[in-house]
Amino acid sequence: MNETSSVVRDVRGGESLRGTSRRHMLLGATAAMGSAWLLPGCGFRSGGVPGPALAPSPGDIWGTASLRCHAAASGLLAGFAVVPWLLRNNATYAAIVQEQANLIVAENAMKWESLRPSATTYNFDSADVLLSFAEQGRMKIRGHNLLWHRQLPAWFSSVATQANARQLLESHIETVAGRYAGRMHSWDVVNEAIQVSDGRPDGLRDSPWLRLVGDDYVEVAFRAARKADPQALLTYNDYGIEAENAQDEAKRQAVLLMLRRMRTRRVPIDAVGVQSHISAGAKYGAGLMRFITSVRELDLQVFVTEMDVNDRNLGSAVEERDAAVAQTYHEYLHLVLSHPAVTAVVFWGVSDRDTWLNHEDSRADGRPERPLLFDANLKPKQDVFAVRNAFDRRTGSKGRV
Ligand code: G3I
Repeated sequence: MNETSSVVRDVRGGESLRGTSRRHMLLGATAAMGSAWLLPGCGFRSGGVPGPALAPSPGDIWGTASLRCHAAASGLLAGFAVVPWLLRNNATYAAIVQEQANLIVAENAMKWESLRPSATTYNFDSADVLLSFAEQGRMKIRGHNLLWHRQLPAWFSSVATQANARQLLESHIETVAGRYAGRMHSWDVVNEAIQVSDGRPDGLRDSPWLRLVGDDYVEVAFRAARKADPQALLTYNDYGIEAENAQDEAKRQAVLLMLRRMRTRRVPIDAVGVQSHISAGAKYGAGLMRFITSVRELDLQVFVTEMDVNDRNLGSAVEERDAAVAQTYHEYLHLVLSHPAVTAVVFWGVSDRDTWLNHEDSRADGRPERPLLFDANLKPKQDVFAVRNAFDRRTGSKGRV
């Protein structure tokens, strides 16, 4: 990426304020005036947000005390994967997202399975709800995703062939990314393409896309995405690259190999998503930070794209589980946010009631997981403060690429 486009993308991509003195000046002015209007989006309320009524002790998490405002003050975008139906039908859920997020993504509504009822038709109803909610609330929007081996529509396996898959992929990206062109912060163009255990030298997963399009399918998708939406930050997104163990290290190396190959071939890419589905009590450290540095050396940003903290290795006492999850949130975010390449943090859901972890990878004792910032009744947990403190501790690193 050249210097000019890097600056343009960075400015467009963030609600961030540039420079410590400017940040302090604005925060000082904000505090003095008792409102957050100088920080774009901070303190913005619509439709009677039940702010203080939802606030836990200790402390307020609304208005200037929100994650959204603390993120912005630290040069970050932050928010949640959301469900459009809940944005429409659950006022408390919508109010939390409105107040706490400056970046949202659809948990499922922009996947092939959701958008493609048939090989020849599209259904954008839910995705459009998300776009209009975000734009009315002055939030940025991530798109997830344009290509994945899971959540393909039922018709896919009988319709897609080696003869038509490339065209099917390109026209999907042209239609979907093209529809929202100029309105997206970023797109997860390719999701989870690396699977070292599949045994290929290039690390690529044995997926339908590989079998049908060929081993250049990642490149095909990124080129189509840039053509359809020249402004969105194009992201490669993956999991299992966070932990300090040999398996995650091998996957980190395979992802870097692919990214370097993409750079050599001038494939358009701007960022890497580190999903961050992590475990309470596990250790994260040097391997992840080396990876982020290597990604930065390729002139790419890093987004934490799907963070949650499972407690499946812990006993059943809720207090202990919650404390360990909050501590892991804080330690992990403090670690990764110490790197200036990391510019966004997205949590994979709002409330424990809706987490995917209760359907996949659930606890052996059958108790519901407690991996998110708000509990099953949409009450804030101590995680909110743990996260906010991690955002605050970033102040000074300026959060820019
Ligand atoms: O929408 C249908 C509904 O009509 C049906 O009645 C119901 C019956 O099971 O299923 C509903 O679809 C479910 C969908 O979530 C929406 O709730 C699917 O069964 C279920 O498999 C799907 O799970 C999603 C999962 O991706 C699919 O692989 C999770 O919500 C979603 O959180 C999860 O997200 C992924 C990211 O996209 C990529 N990274 C990993 C992450 C966690 O697996």
